[in-house]
Amino acid sequence: MIFYFSGTGNSLYVAEKIRNKIGSRVIDISKAMTENQFKYELDAKESVGFVFPAYYYGLPTIVADFISKLDLTDTNPVHIFAVVTCGANCGGADRLLNTLLKGKNLHLSAFYELPMVDNFIFGYDLLSRQEQEDALKNAEGKLMGIIKSISVKGTSDKPSTFLERMLTGAIYPIYQRGRKTRKFYADNRCNSCNLCEEICPSKAIKMVNGRPEWTKEQCIHCVACINRCPQEAIQYGQSTKKRNRYVHPILK
Ligand SMILES: Cc1cc2nc3c(=O)[nH]c(=O)nc-3n(C[C@H](O)[C@H](O)[C@H](O)COP(=O)(O)O)c2cc1C
Ligand code: SF4
Ligand code: SF4
Repeated sequence: MIFYFSGTGNSLYVAEKIRNKIGSRVIDISKAMTENQFKYELDAKESVGFVFPAYYYGLPTIVADFISKLDLTDTNPVHIFAVVTCGANCGGADRLLNTLLKGKNLHLSAFYELPMVDNFIFGYDLLSRQEQEDALKNAEGKLMGIIKSISVKGTSDKPSTFLERMLTGAIYPIYQRGRKTRKFYADNRCNSCNLCEEICPSKAIKMVNGRPEWTKEQCIHCVACINRCPQEAIQYGQSTKKRNRYVHPILK
């Protein structure tokens, strides 16, 4: 069983590729949270996987919340793996995940980091279209290796270093405390298509008089709304106006 979370499609793509190889069920964490679905029964010898993006060298809050509620009662998975997609480096996310799982009496057997395309539009400009395509092609080789390892219940490529874990300790709390929505707005290119409201995993967007409004103080900061708006109408302050957008082809 593969539990995944994805804002712009990278992690969805990876979850689907793993499913194609090992024939597992795929569960959308965002949907499970909306439906309060936390109890799952595993088949005998079924592996459990988590696939999600790195946020501030740690886990998206929705993934941490989901794992803390997850109930695999009466089943003891023999193999638990995680694939964390990222722009470059996921820091000590393996340690955070391990700690969460230990709290549920579960043991992480294998952890893989997979750089794909960085979607962190809040911080800096994203790659150009061509560079995005090239980066996805480059990621395929590593993904194939990861899937091969998962299919034989292999172990992690490498654990995080002391420095990477320090980085997580310093940076991740900024994300946990931050995640503010007040800088979001839609400019006059918005054509009232409703997509942003439909896809927001925080249920933080409500259409009011044909325009999106951010109705919660905090959200997951998954960047789905800003990157996936077909009109590129959503901005975060002034700095995103001229920045490229990114959506994995699986969502197009
Ligand atoms: C809030 C936020 C924080 C991020 N932090 C990191 C990070 O710490 N390290 C990194 O390499 N990439 C980081 N990224 C980039 C994403 O992890 C990367 O683009 C990921 O593959 C996106 O997955 P998705 O398409 O499934 O949402 C961050 C992106 C966002 C939106
Ligand atoms: S996705 Fe973009 S165009 Fe559609 S309603 Fe939201 S802001 Fe408007
Ligand atoms: S408001 Fe936008 S960035 Fe925040 S959770 Fe919703 S879709 Fe993601």
